[in-house]
Amino acid sequence: MRMVDVIDAKRNGKTLTDDQLQFFVDGVVDGSIPDYQISALLMAIYFQGMTSEEQTSLTMKMMHSGEHLDLSKIPGIKVDKHSTGGVGDKVSLPLAAMVAATGIPVPMISGRGLGHTGGTLDKLEAIPGFKVEISEQDFINQVAKEKLAIVGATGEVAPADKKIYGLRDVTDTVDSIPLIASSIMSKKIASGTDALVIDVKTGAGAFMKTLDQSRALANALVGIGKKAGLQCMAVISDMNQPLGNKVGNSLEIEESIDVLKGKGPHDLTDLVLTLGSYMVVMGGKAKTPEEARQLLEQTIANGTALDRFKAMVIAQGGDPRVIDDYTVMPQAKYHIPYRAKRDGVLSKLSADEVGTASMLLGGGRQQASDQLDYSVGIELHHKLGDEVKAGDTLLTIYSNQEEIPAVEKLLDESIEISDHYDKPELIHEIIE
Ligand code: URA
Repeated sequence: MRMVDVIDAKRNGKTLTDDQLQFFVDGVVDGSIPDYQISALLMAIYFQGMTSEEQTSLTMKMMHSGEHLDLSKIPGIKVDKHSTGGVGDKVSLPLAAMVAATGIPVPMISGRGLGHTGGTLDKLEAIPGFKVEISEQDFINQVAKEKLAIVGATGEVAPADKKIYGLRDVTDTVDSIPLIASSIMSKKIASGTDALVIDVKTGAGAFMKTLDQSRALANALVGIGKKAGLQCMAVISDMNQPLGNKVGNSLEIEESIDVLKGKGPHDLTDLVLTLGSYMVVMGGKAKTPEEARQLLEQTIANGTALDRFKAMVIAQGGDPRVIDDYTVMPQAKYHIPYRAKRDGVLSKLSADEVGTASMLLGGGRQQASDQLDYSVGIELHHKLGDEVKAGDTLLTIYSNQEEIPAVEKLLDESIEISDHYDKPELIHEIIE
């Protein structure tokens, strides 16, 4: 087979065969296909798209290009969640604990943050001693015993994706639905879960800016998951403003524990309960999402969800005092208020710019090698649609520098106050 013929077929809108996709993925991994031919095929896929069968076939071949976990020794239906990434998105932390408290095993393989979005692993590392890199055997033992673990990838997962993602980044082919969907699902299927709930973000701070694009991505992800034999569904949730009230690593751990204590912000708690309800139904502990939601609410009221979080912290070497004393995590020196410049209704609180502001404070990475400052971040005192008066504190900036002109300038651009603005919906659609 010749790569030029595979490119020619896709360029002319044909459906690639299983053999052609296998030839492509093998050649990506063994280095026999040069970057310029991989890139040409990516561009052809970008313009011509892929059928649902092609997407699933590409996903499975990418998944088989690396290691995959066998979780069959853990009894029960294993359930995981994936988010396409957002700002203030600490959902995985309370969600894993609440679902685990219903008796469902939650083996979560998470990632690190880059650019304006945070990463679950970085947030957990704000807890002194918490280890996110543990062996596969320890991961399996912990999920079997404690019902949850949140870790980084234990082996080399989907190396074909790593190579392809690097080329997509420099050939402007990142935002192609078949390429995003096969990239995400190859890694998720390799993680060995039986069921998956996907939180597809939509809006200014998300990969997908419009509801139509988000719906198309959600359908592609769920379609691949189901064809691969997973129970799978997606929720499309809003990412025009940050989720919850806190952005930054220590701050997001605080807010996650607050959710487990029943005093989390309304939007975050609602999204956790919505995603969790479907996980509990897929995990076989409830017949309907409504029944599942009640079960999850009980795990907050009776303290079992908080207990699961604490068990995970202890099992992964973290300091359990964090549950009652947030100051065991790094704390910022300065708390700087950012005030409203006029009376009105908050009409813009751009998630991506607030995320970038937190990154500039040191809470996120501009490059993968950057060190993080866990203590910094931003606390929101108002959300979109709130009425505010000139001089009200809109945000508190947690910083280790007294003067932060670049951050304040960025916040000036990310915030608008108008005469009227309706509060946005948090959950736009459910795709089953
Ligand atoms: N996340 C991934 O893992 N891959 C993509 O292509 C986009 C988001």
